[in-house]
Amino acid sequence: MNTKTWTAVDDYIVSSLFEADPVLDAVLAANRRQGLPAIDVSAAQGKLLSLLVRISGAKKVLEIGTLGGYSTIWMARGLPADGKVVTLELDPHHAKVARSNFERAGVADRVELRVGSALQSLTELGGENAGPFDLIFIDADKPNNPNYLACALRLSRSGTVIVCDNVIRDGAVLDEDGRDANVEGARAAFSFIGGDKRLDGTAIQTVGAKGYDGFAIAIVD
Ligand code: SAH
Ligand code: DHB
Ligand code: MG
Repeated sequence: MNTKTWTAVDDYIVSSLFEADPVLDAVLAANRRQGLPAIDVSAAQGKLLSLLVRISGAKKVLEIGTLGGYSTIWMARGLPADGKVVTLELDPHHAKVARSNFERAGVADRVELRVGSALQSLTELGGENAGPFDLIFIDADKPNNPNYLACALRLSRSGTVIVCDNVIRDGAVLDEDGRDANVEGARAAFSFIGGDKRLDGTAIQTVGAKGYDGFAIAIVD
């Protein structure tokens, strides 16, 4: 098995289960045209996030790491009419591209984008009593995973779902040498979830168009 097969199977999943989606195609095209890195979740993963929003009945979603808003749009689509996504992004260029994508996808009324360091924005959200959020997707700078998980817990209630992206990293999550800060961030997510009594979690290894990686998924007790 290799990335070529994984990508072909991802294409099969999308073509057999999803309707044609010119809007999301245009979002990805805009992201590439504007020079954003191709590190959006895959379509199959985006649909999983959307389904998790629906399965959990989430009305308030928090995302840490917007990029061009591809994952944001998938989650926004899973919300009821009165639902909302708050999404946090450091890079003003990414944020600008994301805003135009939210307009393009017709979800701008359900998305609030805050530009700045996510740790700063998370502190502000706490001060505004913006929580509790029903589902929180962590997908930003990986070394901050434990800080984001701690903030996520403060903005949670019993039953909040927390999803953390990129925790397998081609299996490099097993590396204990501490040389790769992103791997350390993945391992820190496992330590945090495994070590916190309020969190009950697992991880799903994924292969597909984006290679071999995975999500950690936890629920707050
Ligand atoms: N969730 C997106 C991908 C996010 S990529 C999707 O699947 O479509 C990670 C994003 O996190 C990048 O846009 C990067 O600029 C942003 N980021 C990195 N460090 C950050 C920080 N300290 N605060 C907020 N955002 C940050
Ligand atoms: C990277 C970040 C991501 O969020 C992702 O899904 C894939 C790669 C990265 O920084 O390389
Ligand atoms: Mg990611």
